[in-house]
Amino acid sequence: MTVTQEDIERGLRELGLGQNSHVLVHSSYKAFGGVEGGPATVARALAGSFATLMMPAFASHRSAVWDERGLFENNAYPAAPPEGWDISQAEPFTYDTPANPTMGIINETFRREYDGARSANPMMSFVAYGALADELCGAGTDVDAVEPIRRLMEAAGQVLLLGVTHTNSTAIHLAEQLAGREQFVRYAMTPDGVRMAMSGGCGNPFDDLQPHVQHLERRVQVGGSTLRCYDLQSYVETARRLIEDDPEALLCAATKSCSRCDAHRSRVPV
Ligand SMILES: CC(C)(COP(=O)(O)OP(=O)(O)OC[C@H]1O[C@@H](n2cnc3c(N)ncnc32)[C@H](O)[C@@H]1OP(=O)(O)O)[C@@H](O)C(=O)NCCC(=O)NCCS
Ligand SMILES: [Zn+2]
Repeated sequence: MTVTQEDIERGLRELGLGQNSHVLVHSSYKAFGGVEGGPATVARALAGSFATLMMPAFASHRSAVWDERGLFENNAYPAAPPEGWDISQAEPFTYDTPANPTMGIINETFRREYDGARSANPMMSFVAYGALADELCGAGTDVDAVEPIRRLMEAAGQVLLLGVTHTNSTAIHLAEQLAGREQFVRYAMTPDGVRMAMSGGCGNPFDDLQPHVQHLERRVQVGGSTLRCYDLQSYVETARRLIEDDPEALLCAATKSCSRCDAHRSRVPV
């Protein structure tokens, strides 16, 4: 069954989202299993249904730099670049840098077609369109990657997982930060040269959050895609309390030897 723009709009309304909503969306196009008009239809349905739409448009695949300080100052990632890499391959991050394809085709379509605002963290930028676009993604968003999400939370925003799970939910990195988990540091090429930027860690274990946020969840099915929506403040607060109560929460098991989760683990105060 091919999904139409009206099907998506109806699903969003069933989730209680509308023209007063400010929404962060993480997406999968393929999860719908076919949309009339392609990814542009989904972008149009989202951008037209809310007061503000925000999506990740991370560009680290182009801007990341390995310099003498290492890619990650706190050694959570290998300091050595991939074989054959040299600094001439790093592109300065600008407003127009395409999003990493791992953000999904809906996000890149939205970035291209809706001229709103883009946060300035050169590794992990967000694009926003609508009433609060400048407020969320404007000045002061160049260092802390999750600053736009913090601002969205303060504006009573929502997070919508469009056919994806919590593993790609950047708001959980905000919860980690609020719970006192040390933030990773990376370096990126910008028009002003190489700059430091805060960056998120590992999202692989984030589906462990699901039983704790189940009661907050509004859920609807549109074609093959499950849409799950949460009040951002409750969602982040739940994850923050979980980590504060248990420093091992939302980390890969120690037996998995995940360098990023192990780096967090090694910094837990004893
Ligand atoms: C990684 C991820 C994007 C993969 O999901 P996906 O649905 O496979 O990927 P996309 O949304 O990019 O959709 C890709 C499909 O769109 C299709 N497509 C692209 N442009 C199209 C067009 N104009 N018309 C029709 N189809 C098109 C592609 O052909 C591809 O399908 P194929 O693999 O069969 O060729 C998703 O799992 C995810 O993690 N999303 C969230 C990302 C995020 O927010 N990350 C931030 C925190 S880390
Ligand atoms: Zn991990």
